Formats: sequence, C-alpha cells, structure tokens
Amino acid sequence: MRRLLTGLVAVALPALLFAQVPRRFPPDSLINVKVMPRTTPPLQLIGVMRNFSGDLGVRCQFCHVGEEGKPLDQFDFAIDQKRTKLVARQMMLMVQEINRRVDTLPGHDANSLQVTCATCHHGVSRPAPLSTVLTEIGTLSGADSAVRAYKALRTRYYGRAAYDFGEGTLNTAAFRLGRANKFDEALAMLRMNEELYPNSSGMSVFRGNIELMRSDTLAAESAFREAVRRDPANEEAKGRLRTIGKQP
Ligand code: HEC
Ligand code: HEC
Repeated sequence: MRRLLTGLVAVALPALLFAQVPRRFPPDSLINVKVMPRTTPPLQLIGVMRNFSGDLGVRCQFCHVGEEGKPLDQFDFAIDQKRTKLVARQMMLMVQEINRRVDTLPGHDANSLQVTCATCHHGVSRPAPLSTVLTEIGTLSGADSAVRAYKALRTRYYGRAAYDFGEGTLNTAAFRLGRANKFDEALAMLRMNEELYPNSSGMSVFRGNIELMRSDTLAAESAFREAVRRDPANEEAKGRLRTIGKQP
C-alpha cells in the first residue's frame, strides 16, 4: 500500500509541475478572472491591463507575481497573491458601479464621459492630494523629509496631472501641519513656497495665521503687514490685523 502511494505521488507530481511551468504569453485562455468575463479575448484583457499600468504609473509586477526584466511568460498572472491585485479587483467593481450611475445622468449620451482608473489615479498608484502627502510626511518625519519629498515629486511629476504644484498646495499643507502643532514643519513648507512663488500676499497671510497658532503675535502682525504691503487690496490681511487689535 505504502509503495503504491509513493508511486502515485511520483506520477502525480511531474504532471502538476507540467501544468504550472510552461506558460504562454499572451495566454491562450484566462484562468482566474472574476470581474472580466472568462470569455474575454486574452489580447483584449491585456489591453485593459496596459491601461491599468499607465493609469497608476506602475508595471505589471505591481499587481502580479513576476520579476522586473524577466519575460512575461515567466509571470504568474493568474495567482491572487498580491494585496494590490485584490484591491484592483475591488476597484474594477467600484468603477463599474460608478459608471452605471453615470449612465443614468440626465442628458447622458454617447459623448458622455466614463470614469476610468485615470480619473482618480492620474498616473500614481495612491491617488493622494499632494497637500495630504506632505502633511503626512511632515507630521511623521519632520520638515526636511517633507521638503525633500516635495522637491522629488516636483522633479518627477511637474507638468503632469498627478499632483498640484500650484501655490495653494504648500499653503494647505502648512496650515494642516500648524493645526497639528508642527510649527517648524509648517513654516518650512511656507519658506519653500516663498522661493517658488515669491511675493505672494496670500501666502503671507498663511504665515501670519501659523504664527498666531504658535502664539507669536508679533511675528503674526509683521506677516499680515507684509501681506498688505504686497497687495494693498488684501482685505483678509487687514481683517486679521484688526482681529489682533492692530490698525491695518
Ligand atoms: C493595478 C493592478 C494590475 C496591474 C498593474 C496589472 N494587472 Fe493584470 N490583472 C489585475 C487583476 C485585478 C486581474 C484579475 C481581473 C479579474 O478578476 O477579472 C488581472 C488579470 C490579468 C491576467 C489574467 C490572468 C488569468 O487569470 O488568466 C493577465 C494575463 C494579466 N492580468 C496581465 C497583466 C499584464 C501583462 C500587466 C502589465 C502590462 C498587468 N496585468 C498589469 C490587476 C493588474
Ligand atoms: C473614484 C476614484 C478611484 C477610481 C476611479 C479608482 N481608484 Fe484606485 N484608489 C482610489 C483611492 C482613494 C485609493 C486609496 C485607498 C487607500 O488609501 O487605501 C485607491 C487605491 C488603489 C490601489 C492600492 C494602491 C496601493 O498602493 O495600496 C490600487 C491597486 C488601485 N487603487 C487600483 C485601481 C484600478 C485598477 C482602478 C481602475 C479599475 C482604480 N483604482 C480606480 C480611488 C480610485
């Protein structure tokens, strides 16, 4: 009996290995698709996959088991091993749901837009607003890390739709860091913003607000005055001066 079992295992094992090893790319058929129809032509599914990759700014191995630089027939596309693949499947369902709702909009017609992964992700895997990214990094790792992160992201993504490098982003990040009592970090964001967008009156109001948060009324007054000097029509800055009992 024992010998018989061993014999069976010896026969079964190579058969299993055979089923696993020689994969073809593109595959002849789909093995483990749960959202797309099983009958989708493989080339059509691969077109969808290329869109996913572009929309998230990633490569196939972000979701699939396989090595950078290795041929795609050595990837195991069917296995559900990576968290990101499972998230992506949920995202596919979410996008279907959203588009079902979009289809019911009044005036909806053939020219109406559909939501895709790019609508939210626009080239990044975690579609967080830049002000959120910087607030998180500033809170966790301090001013230098947040400044470095901003510069690196700006170098990589400036001119794309991925992140908003306009003046407002660093003001917002500074304000949120200030509210979290991270004053050095907040002021570092504003110093960098001042270099990028010199002489902004609005930014000077933000600086004043952060000085107020850390109870430096003198520095706040000087920041609000600087805002008025930069733009004599800045009513917000004048209002802030009145609030702290100063004549604009
Ligand atoms: C953002 C995650 C993500 C990226 C990036 C991605 N895929 Fe996928 N892929 C999936 C998901 C999710 C499925 C399963 C779809 C379903 O269940 O309907 C899938 C399924 C597949 C399948 C079918 C496997 C089977 O079950 O037979 C192939 C082939 C495939 N992907 C190839 C690629 C290739 C090639 C790339 C790179 C160009 C790529 N994928 C990039 C998420 C991704
Ligand atoms: C309505 C906006 C929206 C759309 C459309 C969308 N996503 Fe997302 N996606 C998000 C948000 C928000 C997160 C971050 C969730 C979190 O922080 O856990 C995310 C996270 C992800 C992640 C995890 C990234 C990581 O690093 O953990 C993957 C993978 C992903 N999305 C894939 C997709 C794919 C594929 C599509 C298109 C089928 C898609 N998403 C469409 C909003 C969207």
